[in-house]
Amino acid sequence: MTTLSLFPLLLLPLIFIITTTVTFPSPAQAGGGQWQLLQENIGVVGMHMQLLHNDRVVIFDRTDFGLSNLSLSNGRCRNNPQEQVVKTDCTAHSLEYDVVSNTFRPLFIQTNVWCSSGSVSPNGTLIQTGGFNDGDRTVRTFNPCPNCDWQEFNAGLAARRWYATNHMLPDGRQIIIGGRRQFNYEFYPKKDATAKNIYSLPFLVQTNDAGAENNLYPFVFLNVDGNLFIFANNRAILFDYNNNNVVKTYPSIPDGEPRNYPSTGSAVLLPLRNLQKPSVEAEVMICGGAPKGSFQKTLQGSFVGALNTCARMKITDPNPNWVMETMPGGRVMSDMLLLPNGDVLLINGATLGSAGWESGRNPILNPFLYKPNGVNGSRFQLQNPSRIPRMYHSTAVLLRDGRVLVAGSNPHVDYKFGNVLFPTELRLEAFSPSYLEAGSDDLRPTLVFPAPQSQTKLKYGQKLKVRFQVTAKLVKNLVSVTMLAPSFNTHSFSMNQRLLVLDEVKPTNKVSSKKIVVEKSALVYQVEVTIPSSPIHAPPGYYLLFVVHQEIPSQGIWVQLL
Ligand SMILES: *[C@@H]1O[C@H](CO)[C@@H](O)[C@H](O)[C@H]1NC(C)=O
Ligand SMILES: *[C@@H]1O[C@H](CO)[C@@H](O)[C@H](O)[C@H]1NC(C)=O
Ligand SMILES: *[C@@H]1O[C@H](CO)[C@@H](O)[C@H](O)[C@H]1NC(C)=O
Repeated sequence: MTTLSLFPLLLLPLIFIITTTVTFPSPAQAGGGQWQLLQENIGVVGMHMQLLHNDRVVIFDRTDFGLSNLSLSNGRCRNNPQEQVVKTDCTAHSLEYDVVSNTFRPLFIQTNVWCSSGSVSPNGTLIQTGGFNDGDRTVRTFNPCPNCDWQEFNAGLAARRWYATNHMLPDGRQIIIGGRRQFNYEFYPKKDATAKNIYSLPFLVQTNDAGAENNLYPFVFLNVDGNLFIFANNRAILFDYNNNNVVKTYPSIPDGEPRNYPSTGSAVLLPLRNLQKPSVEAEVMICGGAPKGSFQKTLQGSFVGALNTCARMKITDPNPNWVMETMPGGRVMSDMLLLPNGDVLLINGATLGSAGWESGRNPILNPFLYKPNGVNGSRFQLQNPSRIPRMYHSTAVLLRDGRVLVAGSNPHVDYKFGNVLFPTELRLEAFSPSYLEAGSDDLRPTLVFPAPQSQTKLKYGQKLKVRFQVTAKLVKNLVSVTMLAPSFNTHSFSMNQRLLVLDEVKPTNKVSSKKIVVEKSALVYQVEVTIPSSPIHAPPGYYLLFVVHQEIPSQGIWVQLL
């Protein structure tokens, strides 16, 4: 059934005009990445997604949207007197997608997870916090094991957290910042029973636009000095969360336009390099969003063009400033994902309007690929388009095999499949960046050590000999080893997203560090790298480790840094 055939004929002309999707002149097929439909109907909108170290992705929506299209297993039903829509509900609002077998199973969630947040703790358990109504102070855990399900702890949070941002800390706790009408932060788990529970954060008051907010789901990154970089609306602070102290106030983005919900842009911490040097640099990049007032205008039927700019700033500079760049087009509600080779992918979203119910128009079907170290002016490359609009409440996460999983889109209060713009979207897709094309197979490294399934435990500062094979001639200085922290994705932001480019161990004699080892008569190359020596650079937990050769990444392997 096509989307269009669901519209009554009378509405067609009007809808046709305003649903025109933006596809730029189609780039050549090769080099522009490829789309793959994985599932026609997973039954639940992918509003939140997290990849876990068993290569399964936990996906969940809100619980008060009425019935989903996925039944709970074994005839189970959810009886919840607090629920606002359906008090006895035999459908699932969460599921686990198994990447390897391309199958999924329903999960049982009791309290409302709508617009919540989360992080994976060092032992690999997802800790997910907050939501709405009966779920706004709930802490839920999901342990990655074959038949595990959600566990919920009510009143686990000190404050209601709806549209908050979480980040892993070097000591293995997570910080939970803000949320609607919450100008404060807290930690989970709490240090001890006597610990103060809520700490105020006036920056969130200062960045709250009256009636519009524009500061929800703030962009938070752990800086290399141990402080947190917190961006809300159009500006940022460097924040010492231990002492509740603003260390530095950064300049506003020059155009002054907002970048956080509902003016939803996205942000990444660009790859961290030279981690063994005395002073490590960190740089943040923020792209897209919606000009001030855009959300309010959508309520009157006017849809303003999204911002077409990105702002980059070295947050470790003594005198930092934003440097602006122009994208091939405007984007709002897009996701920014770090790829294993250090490129940034912008995917999903729209070119008009803002985040919020029915507030986006003109889906943008083409991802943009951004090369952070490319020549200024030619860093963006247009990618091949999907056919599926991914509007408000859509998500994207990187998988171990280098593909990007894309789910969700539902700008309506309920599940609606007809008579609406952008029907509720239950299809699951993958985008394969061009590095996965067969033309690069010769260059592609295959990891042989650490053994791919071993989930090797790594210690801070240890040396690691990484061994891999490549069919084509190896270009020594174009090999790197990277580690990526899998992120919690919702509302166009990937919490905890972090890519570390590992330093090579300097060879002590004249033998190159990219040694050739002959193993079972096949050529195996070896590169020795140093694992980050500080949990400030890399908080403890599971990471994906990749070898990259001439910008082509291997498949990742899971490692656990403790
Ligand atoms: C989902 O469920 C609704 C309500 O039961 C139904 O109308 C619709 O056809 C279903 N859609 C799909 C894609 O299964
Ligand atoms: C992992 O740690 C979290 C937080 O400390 C805890 O709730 C969870 O039970 C642990 N999981 C396992 C499998 O031990
Ligand atoms: C890129 O070039 C433009 C135009 O010359 C300049 O304004 C901008 O600051 C440069 N951006 C970066 C990131 O260097």
